[in-house]
Amino acid sequence: MVKAAIIAPSILSADFAHLAEEIESVEKGGADLLHLDIMDGHFVPNITIGPPVVASIRKITKLPLDAHLMIEDPARYVDELIQAGVNWISVHAETDSHLNRTIQHIRSQGVRAGVAINPATPISALEEVIPDVDFVLVMSVNPGFGGQQFIPSVLHKIRKLREKISSNNYRARIEIDGGVDVGNLDEVLAAGADVIVVGSAIFKSRSSPFDAVREIKEMADRQMSRLDRV
Ligand code: DX5
Ligand code: ZN
Repeated sequence: MVKAAIIAPSILSADFAHLAEEIESVEKGGADLLHLDIMDGHFVPNITIGPPVVASIRKITKLPLDAHLMIEDPARYVDELIQAGVNWISVHAETDSHLNRTIQHIRSQGVRAGVAINPATPISALEEVIPDVDFVLVMSVNPGFGGQQFIPSVLHKIRKLREKISSNNYRARIEIDGGVDVGNLDEVLAAGADVIVVGSAIFKSRSSPFDAVREIKEMADRQMSRLDRV
């Protein structure tokens, strides 16, 4: 297993009227990656941001940007997003009928390519592409909104995926997205996830986004060093 977990705040739960300050506070708090949820109102019942907003975000942070595309025909927007400055892109297996082509294209641009799967999608859907991806994004809520409850059966899927990746020596990281907080973080890491998206538990935290990221980061570091000892 890789040494340190990557903590990726999702700005979906941030205050968009004060986005620059919100991003600055998670960057200062120790975030590793900034998760951007791109939604089109078709693949999921919500609409968020597109390439122009991503390009503005690029200007105000040094954090690598992780675009999670919850849109139909995601390949259509890959180049624009790369142009806007994203560093990681995931497309959903459920909505891309040319997954292999999209992944190769993203990687050919020097950007990390991931495939995302909904809670009801089995890991067998990844069978033919998993050797080629940089990460698999496992949804632990049904995509569309922040602040939903973690679906516990996803832990089993992550364990199976970790086993498959380790036994085949694939490079893919496992990103988990949805309902993660300090109450389930240890379990999620123990199951094998190593890129942790956290939205509402950071941006709607009782303390501050800065403190929440610090707490999550420290907790993840502790748990990862415990897991390494086993
Ligand atoms: C949901 C998004 C998530 C969301 C996570 O469709 O993909 O990235 O922002 O937010 P929380 O952590 O609040 O579930
Ligand atoms: Zn997401």
